[in-house]
Amino acid sequence: MTPVVAVHGGAGGRIFDAPEAAGVCERASAAGLNILRGGGSALGAVQRAIEVMEDDPLLNAGTGAALNEDGRLELDASIMEGSDLGAGGVAALSPFRNPIAIARAVLEDGAHVLYAGAGADSFAREMGFEPVRLTEMRTRRSIQRLLARQRDGASEPDDDLDTVGAVAVDRFGRTAAGTSTGGTVGQRPGRIGDSPLIGSGTYADDEAGACSTTGLGEAIIRECLAFRAVALLRLGVPATEASSATISRFKSRVGGRGGLILVNGAGEVGIAKNTDAMPYAVSQLGHELISGF
Ligand code: GLY
Repeated sequence: MTPVVAVHGGAGGRIFDAPEAAGVCERASAAGLNILRGGGSALGAVQRAIEVMEDDPLLNAGTGAALNEDGRLELDASIMEGSDLGAGGVAALSPFRNPIAIARAVLEDGAHVLYAGAGADSFAREMGFEPVRLTEMRTRRSIQRLLARQRDGASEPDDDLDTVGAVAVDRFGRTAAGTSTGGTVGQRPGRIGDSPLIGSGTYADDEAGACSTTGLGEAIIRECLAFRAVALLRLGVPATEASSATISRFKSRVGGRGGLILVNGAGEVGIAKNTDAMPYAVSQLGHELISGF
């Protein structure tokens, strides 16, 4: 098995940001591949790739993530490994630098799969993660996006690039997927999207493959989008067809707008979207890095 990492920087309509976001994706997939090159696991590669994107203020996750209507951060993330179907997630988390690392801690702890709100915050603190001040993660750009959304009100929901995610297969054929986001710009406090939900934002199963989704969570949740894509892989549908068929049905069945990345057990990657842009990058040992939007 040739190890591979694929990442997305969120499906959306702001094409002028997409080339720069694709550059962030390149750095993220390369960082994930470094983990695999050093003998690390698919799970470790997914976590590292997502941390790089969370730390970049351009993308809607971690630092610079979308603010809710009160101007606060409520962060969502999940991660899953496909060998034992281990999974962890956090929802409506307060400002912590890397929500995906806390989701990983939920997985490793094993007691539960998903913590939300104050419970997620206290779990994170118990695990040794340090909360940070909102002002350390809120950026000029994220404030401007909120003000623009509040001013323009009825703008299209996919105007902004949304969510980051990664999938990987390691040299042992183990799969993993993860997703992280600040949700939608100006969302109501307490609103939780697809990204922390196993089966909607994230799914991995070594018997089929792994998938991370992006787009408007209300549609993705109803379609169980990540699980649906992996189910096609299980049937032997090639990765490229599985990704495009899943997005096509997403549109026709629930009017969904968004995208996904997936990888099957053979390390074949599928990428599909029905928005103007979805920055992505794919790093595979022995191959040139591929990126685009
Ligand atoms: N896909 C991210 C969200 O809707 O929250």
